[in-house]
Amino acid sequence: MPYIIGLHSAASAFLSAGIVVQCSVAIVICLVIVLTTTASLQDDGDEAPKSLPGPAFLSIVPFFRQRYDFLNWGFHITGQSTFQFQLMSNTVIVVSGASARRAFFYAKGFDLTEGFKILSGAIPMVRGVTSGLQTKRISVIHKRLAAVQKNLPLSNLIPAILEDSRQLLESYGPSGTFDPFEKIYELIFQATVRSLSSSEISDDPALVARLKTLYDRLDTGTTPATVLVPWLPTPAMIKKLWATKEIYEIVVRAIDSRQQSGISRNDTLQMLVDSGDEKLVVVGFIMGLLIAGARATGTTASWIVTFLGGHGDWRQKAKTEVESLLTEYSNSTAASLSARLADIPLEIWESQTPVLDAIIRETLRVAQPHTAMRRNLGPEVYINDKLIPSGAYVVYPFSDVHLDPEIYAEPWRFDPSRKEASKVDLPYVGWGVGKTTCLGTRLAKVELKLTTALFLLAFDHTLVDKSGEAPTVPPTPNWNDILMCRPPQGSCYVKYTRTNLAL
Ligand code: HEM
Repeated sequence: MPYIIGLHSAASAFLSAGIVVQCSVAIVICLVIVLTTTASLQDDGDEAPKSLPGPAFLSIVPFFRQRYDFLNWGFHITGQSTFQFQLMSNTVIVVSGASARRAFFYAKGFDLTEGFKILSGAIPMVRGVTSGLQTKRISVIHKRLAAVQKNLPLSNLIPAILEDSRQLLESYGPSGTFDPFEKIYELIFQATVRSLSSSEISDDPALVARLKTLYDRLDTGTTPATVLVPWLPTPAMIKKLWATKEIYEIVVRAIDSRQQSGISRNDTLQMLVDSGDEKLVVVGFIMGLLIAGARATGTTASWIVTFLGGHGDWRQKAKTEVESLLTEYSNSTAASLSARLADIPLEIWESQTPVLDAIIRETLRVAQPHTAMRRNLGPEVYINDKLIPSGAYVVYPFSDVHLDPEIYAEPWRFDPSRKEASKVDLPYVGWGVGKTTCLGTRLAKVELKLTTALFLLAFDHTLVDKSGEAPTVPPTPNWNDILMCRPPQGSCYVKYTRTNLAL
């Protein structure tokens, strides 16, 4: 791979350079950012969305670091449902409201991959592996993802996910406290690696832990500079590229050893290899989907456990639902919980868990801080009577609909019994809508249900703050944390005791 060679010398040179050189690079970066953004300020015509006041470069950090507050401030200060700002030389248009929502999600020319590339940038672009993938390669990856979620392979994953979760939960001991945004995320990361990669990787706890560290580095290492000027060798960018390189090597090693061994296994890697796809597609599948899948599912699972810890009534309802499925579908009363849960067929998990479904849906509504991003690759269009030029970036914050008190009364309150809002167009977009819907929904829901079910049956839990007391107010999702919506550090832990059922 060409990037590895160039990267190595650039990284070594930068990291071993003195503070003077590093400061000079930082100053140059700032100048580049100020110059490119100031130069691109433009007059608003009648049809153009109103621009944010003040110098354009002031938008950059808030967009990446305080997104929820920044976008709300934009709507407030412009007094409009649509406004625009500059990110370097890119025009970004923020839209809101029901008709904009429909226009945004159904617009023919709006492209998710292009939008994601410039505005998100969690994974460094490695040409041919994570970027520059032709439409054909992306559609092969999507086709393989659909294959993983067919009835048979998804059913086969159920005992494997439960066994992985059992092993992790077994290490918790009889009682204690933990941070759900670390430990529950860890369960889901393992389940996602199991579902999307190879048994060589997912059977090796040290390797899974290493992968998790590397993916965390990619996620948390995203800075305005790594997204907007990815060619600049900032320390953050170098760290991210290094992490990408290491992930790439782990995945390639797994593929090579599978191909060389000639031994066939019953896992996703085998399906990919047997499909005869080129290696870059296989690597792209594993690297790209792990990042697309693990974080969103992990955030949701962490919040489910958190919400249920603070809402004993819903905790009990969910537990009762799973217990009654066990009574009906599990053959053996002597076996462990994980083995008994594995007796419940996939179609039952998918069709007879209304309580778990309602909990997942409500958790996504209130604790999934997604901002959908697109680039208009088609001709100019109008949204809210405002011009969206060809080439512009367009974003739609999910908070516009999911936290609207007109649609969801007391929107911050976790209440899975809410009825579907019927008076509004597209009142719920938790799994996407229109042209782009989540292609991992089936897998994500199964992972969420299995891990939640096992946890609820094996442990009793409540919430405590760092002093060990029950929090006076329930934790509120922090939408400015675009990764996990995590409440302030130290404000919320899970306190647990093991039940007398064997895991
Ligand atoms: C709770 C977990 C998840 C949630 C809430 C979620 C949510 C979403 C949403 C809202 C979108 C549309 C984004 C937009 O319109 O900008 C999306 C797209 C997507 N999701 Fe998920 N997702 C989850 C898990 C997963 C998993 C586990 C995978 C893969 C294994 C996955 C793969 C994808 C892909 C490939 C797309 C892009 C579809 C396209 O390009 O047309 N997701 N997801």
